[in-house]
Amino acid sequence: MPKAPLKILQVAPEVTPFSKVGGLADVVGALTKEMSRAGHDVRVITPLYGFLEPKEDWTAEPGAFSVHLGGYKEEFTRLWKTTYPGSDAQVYFIEYGKYYDRHEIYTGPWGGHSDNHERFAFLSRAAIDYCHSRQWYPDVIHCHDWTVGFVPVYLNTTEYNTPLGRAATVFTIHNLMHQGIFGREVLQFAGLPPEVFRPDNLESMGLVNMMKGGIYNSTKITTVSPNYAAEIQGPEYGCGLNHVLKYRAGDLIGIINGIDTDEWNPATDKHLPANFSADDLSGKAKCKRKLQERMGLEHDSKVPIFCAIARLFDQKGLDLLAEIVPWIMSEMNVQITLLGAGDGGLEQSFLALQERFHGKVGVYIGYNNQLAHLMEAGSDFFVMPSRFEPCGLNQMYSMAYGTLPIVRSTGGLVDSVQQYVEGRERGTGFRFDEASAKALYYAIGWACSTWYDRPDDYRMLQQNAMRTDLSWTQSADKYLDVYHWAQDARLRGMGILDRTPHP
Ligand code: ADP
Ligand code: GLC
Repeated sequence: MPKAPLKILQVAPEVTPFSKVGGLADVVGALTKEMSRAGHDVRVITPLYGFLEPKEDWTAEPGAFSVHLGGYKEEFTRLWKTTYPGSDAQVYFIEYGKYYDRHEIYTGPWGGHSDNHERFAFLSRAAIDYCHSRQWYPDVIHCHDWTVGFVPVYLNTTEYNTPLGRAATVFTIHNLMHQGIFGREVLQFAGLPPEVFRPDNLESMGLVNMMKGGIYNSTKITTVSPNYAAEIQGPEYGCGLNHVLKYRAGDLIGIINGIDTDEWNPATDKHLPANFSADDLSGKAKCKRKLQERMGLEHDSKVPIFCAIARLFDQKGLDLLAEIVPWIMSEMNVQITLLGAGDGGLEQSFLALQERFHGKVGVYIGYNNQLAHLMEAGSDFFVMPSRFEPCGLNQMYSMAYGTLPIVRSTGGLVDSVQQYVEGRERGTGFRFDEASAKALYYAIGWACSTWYDRPDDYRMLQQNAMRTDLSWTQSADKYLDVYHWAQDARLRGMGILDRTPHP
């Protein structure tokens, strides 16, 4: 029997195309669009950061809007509203200069903003107060990562006996490494009762752990790939929360991310000098030439380009690539190009490699979406040696653009990249196991020999990759099942329903 449309509130610190640090923003944006197109009433709450200028089609909501923190009131200047592009979903931006009028979402030049506990407790509370002020009570509140971990805690405490208390919470873990750990005072600031400060709730070693609060208090928990869902229940990838995740294993499910095919489709991509598809790859050669020009690489269509795009942090393992570039350059006829920003030392290492291997190594330090599209389109291989990777989007963008991923076998990279097995008609990329420079070097060598010695295999892998369904269709259906599962469980827990079907 078809189910009635749901009222869904997404609460997130970043949302593509408005604000983005990493893949979380892409996922929130894509899910918002998918759910709205499927007929659900979707709203999003997110901050108005300093780099966001209200546009002509944005409207300022009439009237003041207060956020009720720790016993006193904070007045907002404004709540801005717009429609999510390509959908009917409504996006609400909270304008509160004291916390959000900044150019970096999480970190300033000297590390994490020192008031992040207040900034994100405020975001969580604003989501709650939005619902009350509009008397719009969602069926499901979907929260993304530690910054909004207090939302499920409010739902189980201060909000439980209000009309909002019936809402189920779904908490998605995008990256367990960042947990939001702060002093106990944040509870008072947020107006949360002291009883929640317990090890079997959000306390962790005498501190408040927002991620743990989200995991403990949500009706259901998801993470962004099935393999990562299993990994985080063990000590190696559990980041100290593996016991909590194991305890909640019956409510935890891994759903692989999809890619937004409106944005990442080589046949329609507006950022490219030429479009292409699995049936006609001629445009890809034009993209390759343009990329070589843009990155100062020698013009040569026969040499394979290996590219990497990432935040330059330990997680992504690109220090391993920097370490082996000299070996690669002395033994393989390839070009390497990198787009990224982050760790200053690693940025300098890549810039030095560009100097040293002029015309063979091209580096762009910074964030550049247009260049990211050109790199995916113009390269032949994509290097992603992550130490851990909850899902990863770039390996999937690469596959869609016929650029074969070379990935470490971890997290979602295992679920999304099918291993090439020589002599068989299968595979969409190259996987290796050990997080070491040597293992990466061998994997790149394997890919390079496939390019030069087994060109038919390269083409076969490329076709397999490009023809893989990477869209959100299947994963969005799974999220919908989780929403229903969570809704039933919440109502059952409150004595309103008496059954909980598992998706
Ligand atoms: P994570 O969220 O851990 O950074 P993902 O692979 O899920 O990893 O998502 C990364 C997203 O950020 C992708 O959309 C990627 O294209 C984009 N990205 C990362 N670094 C840059 C950059 N320097 N310039 C442009 N886009 C980038
Ligand atoms: C995180 C993870 C990444 C994932 C993204 C979106 O930033 O590091 O693997 O793809 O979230 O879920």
